[in-house]
This record gives sequence, structure tokens and C-alpha cells, in this order.
Amino acid sequence: MIRIFGNIIAALILFSSVAAKAAVNDDLTYANYDQVKISHVYLDLNVDFNEKALKGFVDISLNWLVKNETVVYLDTRDLKIFKVLAKNTDNNWVKVNFALAKRDAVMGSKLTVNPGFQAQTIRVYYQSTEVASGLQWLSKEQTAGKKYPFMFSQNQAIHARSWIPIQDTPAVRLTYDARIRTVKELLVVMSANNEPNTAKDGDYYFSMPQAIPPYLIAIGVGDLEFKAMSEQTGVYAESYILEASAAEFNDTQAMITASEAMYGKYRWGRYDLLMLPPSFPFGGMENPRLSFITPTVVAGDKSLVSLIAHELAHSWSGNLVTNESWRDLWLNEGFTSYVENRIMEEVFGRNRAVMEQVLGVADLQADLADLPANDSVLYLDLQGRDPDSAFSDVPYVKGQLFLIFLEQRFGRERFDPFVLSYFNNFSFQSIGTKDFLAYLEQHLISKYPGIVSQAEVKEWVFGQGLPTSVPQPTSDIFTNVTKHSVNWLADDISLTDIDTSSWTVHEWLFFINGLPRDLNNKRMVELDSQYQLTTSTNAEIAHAWYLLALHAGYDVVQPQLQQYLINIGRRKLIVPLYKKLAESDAGLTWVKAVYMKARPGYHPLAQGSVDEILNK
Ligand code: BES
Ligand code: ZN
Repeated sequence: MIRIFGNIIAALILFSSVAAKAAVNDDLTYANYDQVKISHVYLDLNVDFNEKALKGFVDISLNWLVKNETVVYLDTRDLKIFKVLAKNTDNNWVKVNFALAKRDAVMGSKLTVNPGFQAQTIRVYYQSTEVASGLQWLSKEQTAGKKYPFMFSQNQAIHARSWIPIQDTPAVRLTYDARIRTVKELLVVMSANNEPNTAKDGDYYFSMPQAIPPYLIAIGVGDLEFKAMSEQTGVYAESYILEASAAEFNDTQAMITASEAMYGKYRWGRYDLLMLPPSFPFGGMENPRLSFITPTVVAGDKSLVSLIAHELAHSWSGNLVTNESWRDLWLNEGFTSYVENRIMEEVFGRNRAVMEQVLGVADLQADLADLPANDSVLYLDLQGRDPDSAFSDVPYVKGQLFLIFLEQRFGRERFDPFVLSYFNNFSFQSIGTKDFLAYLEQHLISKYPGIVSQAEVKEWVFGQGLPTSVPQPTSDIFTNVTKHSVNWLADDISLTDIDTSSWTVHEWLFFINGLPRDLNNKRMVELDSQYQLTTSTNAEIAHAWYLLALHAGYDVVQPQLQQYLINIGRRKLIVPLYKKLAESDAGLTWVKAVYMKARPGYHPLAQGSVDEILNK
């Protein structure tokens, strides 16, 4: 009797702990989001360029999921909290106590608010500080125009908390409104309803009526102008790059059309691009209605526009169907890389799409070579780390290859409707890997039995490295490039025998990355004088060439490399160069001096990455 009773209790305890755990899958937030969820925020902020701070208050609307709880835990990092109010049942604001915990290096400081009743709204008066990990403040001297300062946010993964006290988890979705004030010469844009050709008056209102996770709240402030590309799409940029960007990206509307035909209607209204300063630490960021874009993709020949296809694709994978924790990042990035490539195929043809697949796989292989085995799994184990530090091509390219694998096995006639129904089924929801797997099992694997086994799926998602069933994209165009390169290395032909006139960035990257790393000086000189690679204005080609030059000891690149590292702050382009340079004493000494000049212009995230490399 006692034993049975004991077992029931044990079962109850087990069950309840499992149930509680099931509700809270994100351990990178302090929020008690299994008890209360933010449904809406109103931001009322001043952009103070002198203090490099956003100052004001946020009204947070709460949706209570349990009866007997009154405490709200919020995420913050490096915020100053001045006062907290809560609206009581009589609709009066009352002052409430709050506690800001000690700062954790990864998570930030937990903000505890306990009004003693289930507040429907709380108001937090606060300001961000100069060290905000999610904001970059550029002085006017650091901008292209040199006349006005610039500021932009980058919230993904866990940086929203550095400028908004919030439940900083992708498991929570909220709508938002904002009133943002700044100097009257500057324009403010947000991941919300930006009216094209808004007059500059320093006082701006925004509304985002669709529920999004906090990592998609975004703001940019600068001497911006707008140029329409189509009825639905346009570019915001500083004037120096406005026309060039609008021309480079004028296939954006065609990309939307192509994606809608495969994956259903674009749900977000307008789709605009915000061109950021070259210090933007990413290629792009899929902030809804307004993707943030690095200027390093404005190559003049549309060769790097897959980035736009990528950020646009997030309008389905990521923004519509969202990963519920950063362990599930592959649901966002793997699906997006897959959809990106399908869009590229539709708009630019199969050859280009396949070349981009091959280049992606090569990047993945390079990453896999130095990643800990644990980080080669799609369903990541972050082990308490900052998600930024576990960042690699695995969620992107391994995720994409998994979906290509499914596409090839089932055929597009079955796979495409599956992806469409997946987006529709989970639209405006945050889901985990397990939800995807259950949906996959039901709507594809067991619907068409005998094509893919559960064991194969498990190996893709939970296994290390690449399964033996991995698709191996090949490109005839690249095979031809390899042939030329082999012949040249064997001295059977000279460079002048190779017809590079029709080569795009893709061929160049494949060619340069395929060359032996220990090329002798004579060969390097030959390449450089034939193709002027050291002075390439294509940021990707220059990157590949500088990396080869560092391996080969071709010091001629130094002045241009220095300028590159000072001008560009996109992590993907600079981090491998710093890593390579840090391997030798001479390289380290040289690059430390360069970094002294480059560092002040970098974003906090890029500073963090490079500091770590150079201080090892
Ligand atoms: N959402 C990502 C950027 C990101 C990922 C920021 C994880 C923070 C954490 C964005 O969509 C992206 O993937 N950008 C890529 C571009 C791309 C074409 C692969 C980048 O920045 O390089
Ligand atoms: Zn992405």
C-alpha cells in the first residue's frame, strides 16, 4: 500500500517536473514564461547620441497563464532601471518594488517585479548604456556622409535585453508600438510599418501588429533616404549607396513572387531593406518588413544577392514559424538556406543555385574540420554558452542539406506541398525541433512509407557530422574551373589560356578556395598581376584572396588587407583573417597594430570575437 502510494507520488513528481520542463525549453532567459507571457509592448524612447543611450520607458502588457502567481521576471543586460509601475484593477498606476540581480556574463541581470497582484500592464522607466551589446553607436566621423551619427540594433540572439527589459526568448511572441524621438535631421526606421517618404521631424511612431519574438524588434537611426524598387519594396540608405543598392537589389520583387508561388503569401505587408554601415557584424538580419543589410554585398553585378533571398526567406522560416530556443536555430537557418536556394533557382536559374550549394558545402566542410564534434549536431547543445559563441555553418548548411535530402527522396511534388503546409500549420508560432519532427513524421515520413526511415531522420538531427546519405551537389561549371586550375598548376597552360570573361563571383571563389594553400610566390604574383586580386572591390573575392595570401606568405597584400580590416566589420569576412594572422608571432604583432585602428569602428559583437582571438 505504502509502496503503491509512494510510486504514485513519485510518478506525480516525475510527471509534473516533465510537464514544467516541457513548457520552458529556453534556458537562456530568466523569464517565467510558463506562468506569464508578454503580449504587447509600447516603447517610448529618446535616442541620445551624446550619451549613446536610449532613454524612456516601456509599457509591457501581460497575459497570465496561471492563477496564483504575481511575480514577473524580465531579462536585462547593462540597463539602468529607474522606476517600475504597475496598473492595478482600478486602472491606476502604482509604484512597485523591483530587484535587479547581479550580472551574469551570458544571461545579464534578472529583473524581478512583484506588484503583489496579477498586473495587466507594467511600466519600466529605464535607459540603455553605452556598452549595450545589441546596439552600435557610430559617430558622424564613422559614417560615409560624415555629417550625422548613426545607430542600429542587432537583437538576435540574446541582445534585445541590452536595450529593452523584456522576456528575451523566441518562445514568446508580442506585438509592439513605439514612439521614438531623435534630432530632427535623422530618420528612424523599425521592424514595423515604415511609411515610405516619411518626412524627417525627429518624432516617429511605429506599429507592428503581427506577433513576433523579441529578437525581431529592431531600430535604425541615421541620415537615411528612401528609394522605391517596386510598389511593395524599397531601400533605406545613406545617400552614398542609395542608388547603387536600389539597382543591385531590384530583383527583390521577383524574389517575393517566386517565394509566394512555392510557400504561400508573404504575410508582412511591405518588404524594405535598410543598408547599414560596413561595421554591421552580419551579412543580413531578417527584421520583419525591414531586413538589415551589409553594404559589402553591393558588388555592382548582383553577384551576392542571395543574401536578399536569404533574409526574405526568413519571412516564412523564422519570422512566421520561429525556433522556440536557440538550440533549434537550424529550424530558422536551415530552412531559410533551403528556401533561399529555391528562390535563387527560380529567379537566377539552376546553375547558379547549384554553384551556391557547392560553395555552402565547402564552407561547411571547413567549419566541420575545426568544430568540436558536439557542435556538429543540428539540435545544438549550447551547454550554457552564449549562442553567438556556438555559431557555425552547421545549422545553415547541414540543415539545408537535410532538407535537400528529403526533397530528393520524396520528390518536389511531395516535398513542396509539405513545406507549404508546415509554414501554414505553424504560422505565427514558436516551435521546437520535436514539433517539427512530429509534423514531419505525420505528414511526410509515414504518409509515404518506405522512402525515409525514422533512423535516417534521427541521424540527421541528433547525429554528429554528416550522414552517409548526404546529398553531394556538383556543378559542371565548377568542374570546368577545376580543370583549368589543375592544368595551370601542372604548367600545361598559362593563365592567359583560361577564359575568365564570363566568371561570376561563384567561379572566382571556387577557383581561389580550391588552390593549394602553400602556393609559391611566383604563382601568387602571376595570379595577382593577371587578375588584380589584391585590389578586388568584391568583398567576398578579396576575403578569399587575402586568406590564401596569408597561408602562402604573400605579404604584398598587407596595405590593402589593413584597409579591409579597418573598413569592414562583418564577422564572417574578418574573423577568419584575424584567426589566421594570430597563428604566427609576426602575424599577431602586425594584426594587433591594425586592430588598434580597426577596433573603435567595430560593433560590440565583432569586438568581442576579435578580442578573444587576439588575447588567446
Ligand atoms: N539571422 C541571421 C543572422 C544571425 C544568426 C544573427 C544567428 C545572430 C544569430 C541572418 O539571417 C543570417 O543568416 N545572415 C547571414 C547571411 C546568409 C546569407 C547566410 C550572415 O550574416 O552571414
Ligand atoms: Zn538567416
